[in-house]
Amino acid sequence: MNKVLNRMDLQSESNAIDQKVQDLLARMTLAEKIGQMNQQDATGDTVSADMAEAIRAGRLGSVINLSNAAVGNELQKIAVEESRLGIPLVAARDVIHGFKTIQPIPLGQAATWNPDLVQEGARVAALEARKNGIHWTFAPMIDISRDARWGRIAESFGEDPFLTTQMGVAMVMGFQGDDLSDNGSIAACAKHFAGYGASETGRDYNTTNIPENELRNVYLPPFKAAADAGVATFMASFSDIDGIPASANEFLFQQVLRGEWRYEGMTISDWDSIRQLSDHGLTDGDRDAAHQALIAGLDMEMAGDAYLNHIEGLIDEGLVSEHRIDQMVGNILRLKFQLGLFENPYTDPDDFEEYGNPAAMAVARQMADESLVLLKNDNAALPLDKQKLSDIAIIGPMADEPYEQLGTWIFDGDPDLSITPKSAIEALVGNSARLHYSRALECTRNCGWEDIDSAVLTAEKADVALLFLGEESILSGEAHSRANINLPGRQEELIQKVKATGTPIVAVIQAGRPLTLTNILDDCDAVLYAWHPGSMGGPAIADTLFGVRPPTGRLPVSFPRAVGQLPLYYNHKNTGRPATDDTVIAIDDIPIGSTQTSLGMTAFHLDAGYRPLFPFGFGLSYTEFEYANLTLDRPELTDGQTLTVTVDITNTGKRDGTEIAQLYVRDHVGSITRPIKELKGFQSVDVRAGETKTASFELKSEQLAFYRRNKSFGTEPGKFSVWVGPNADEGIELQFQLI
Ligand code: BGC
Repeated sequence: MNKVLNRMDLQSESNAIDQKVQDLLARMTLAEKIGQMNQQDATGDTVSADMAEAIRAGRLGSVINLSNAAVGNELQKIAVEESRLGIPLVAARDVIHGFKTIQPIPLGQAATWNPDLVQEGARVAALEARKNGIHWTFAPMIDISRDARWGRIAESFGEDPFLTTQMGVAMVMGFQGDDLSDNGSIAACAKHFAGYGASETGRDYNTTNIPENELRNVYLPPFKAAADAGVATFMASFSDIDGIPASANEFLFQQVLRGEWRYEGMTISDWDSIRQLSDHGLTDGDRDAAHQALIAGLDMEMAGDAYLNHIEGLIDEGLVSEHRIDQMVGNILRLKFQLGLFENPYTDPDDFEEYGNPAAMAVARQMADESLVLLKNDNAALPLDKQKLSDIAIIGPMADEPYEQLGTWIFDGDPDLSITPKSAIEALVGNSARLHYSRALECTRNCGWEDIDSAVLTAEKADVALLFLGEESILSGEAHSRANINLPGRQEELIQKVKATGTPIVAVIQAGRPLTLTNILDDCDAVLYAWHPGSMGGPAIADTLFGVRPPTGRLPVSFPRAVGQLPLYYNHKNTGRPATDDTVIAIDDIPIGSTQTSLGMTAFHLDAGYRPLFPFGFGLSYTEFEYANLTLDRPELTDGQTLTVTVDITNTGKRDGTEIAQLYVRDHVGSITRPIKELKGFQSVDVRAGETKTASFELKSEQLAFYRRNKSFGTEPGKFSVWVGPNADEGIELQFQLI
């Protein structure tokens, strides 16, 4: 009953807003409507005379990059009190993984496999951003990212559509809360629509080539889920897809988003991406570019003036109708009404808790804790026992870097809130062991002084060497792609030299992407992957190293052995000649003078095989888990039914631990070829040492649906496999039939 009433309330609220939008539109001049479609950069601590005049004249609907609430209020006052119709501005900012308090980069957040926590994190970020006068964030970024060279993989939730969907929807819910008009809510933005993650060779802004079945089955599902979850806005990608850059892509924005998905929110270009249609070679000048973006249906232009200068002319010539403009402006005004900006245009920072308040720091902390992935741990090198160690070496350029541990997209992040690994270890170890610190390299690259010799001396006198390595924040993120993704600079050499001392090595790697660790893995006793863990990265790392808590993170991306394996993802197609361990030949094993044959040959690289270095979903604990007794509640499933899958997980080690059990399926035969495995469920299970727990998953038949050969969405009968296991490469398998 309540649900019904709620739905009716929502409907009548939305009708009331629609009515207000129509009333307002009826009073607006064409110039004022075009002004609403214009978003400009408001960076700076003062209000420029030009911007003030544009707002007064109704030529500006939104600002991006607001510096603080005072400037925001000043701009808003001009909009509300001095423009003819008093329409408030909507202020946007990239709040990507926290605002002042920084949480792990989104790729690290995905490694938690904990959507509830990601939702909480977005809520905390929204509150801090709202205190600063921000109403709208350009997040979540839900581009499927299969290429670690691409700098923006850091902002993504990794390679998998299901995990990305869970995380993306969680973020939308966290930012937007129950009601967009709540003082602590900000509008979210699903970006970048669509396919940006497929930028060729991982080079940012590059062309993408994505066949429609791949687009619909891999790249679009997180966006569809975000639309269904009520994300307020969508942003166009910079990239070109099938010959049509996203900002002019009618298929994406009209056919799919508005037509098939019935999306009623607002859309925006990316930064200057409408004008860039001419750089792409799609349009000849700004007028043509504005025309094509209008046809595609981008409601607002970010940081450009193609709309401002050309819409009126396009209407005069009959190329665009004013009715079309009314619809687009209506979407913008609706967002402003939904955000409650007409009633509450101003921000009072005192309505909110302090930046870096305990709740914000606690979420940043928990997320950092859960994002750490233990990749290697030979001879139980970890956890460290502070009672048994007398000398510990802390070495490397990432041990004590309050700023660099924050990662990309932290315009407002406050490094003063950061606790570094070095200071957290000092606090945790206290007087129980001697700590010796050597930075060794000025930065992770070849950027300045180097003193590997002192690191060697430091390691020589220690029982264990903790090496803090990786990439500074600036090496990932937008326009920061790399062609070689080894540890940069002399870091590999640093490891080798420390290894030569005989002191055991624990490497802690902070980076914005998976790095190729092949060269260093054998030299390290343990490797803990920390991504860029944010403000509270230090205590999270220290507690994990010393066993205060076990590592629980799992990889949201496959780690390559060699950069030449990219793009790399577990849910690939089988090919006609799938690789197996028996068919792989290593380059050094080929006899000299061998004659060429393709007989028995399969899909692998002579110098990298076919497996990743670490598979998707992988992560060690301080204990071991065994999976047994996989059961399905039925051998056959029909459309509309749910399959219950259960499995026993036993903790066979000596410590308590948390396992993230993962459920994968394979559709063996399809009207189009299907991936060899697809993640369809996961759950976190706490299992005490020696204990067995039963995990139970519900697999709905509709989760087996896909875009078929005839382009319709649905299931196809036939044989399926289901696995439950600890990662994409391991697990117990059973089969069932969909009939
Ligand atoms: C990025 C977007 C971002 C926008 C605003 C662009 O360069 O591609 O993701 O939201 O700038 O800062």
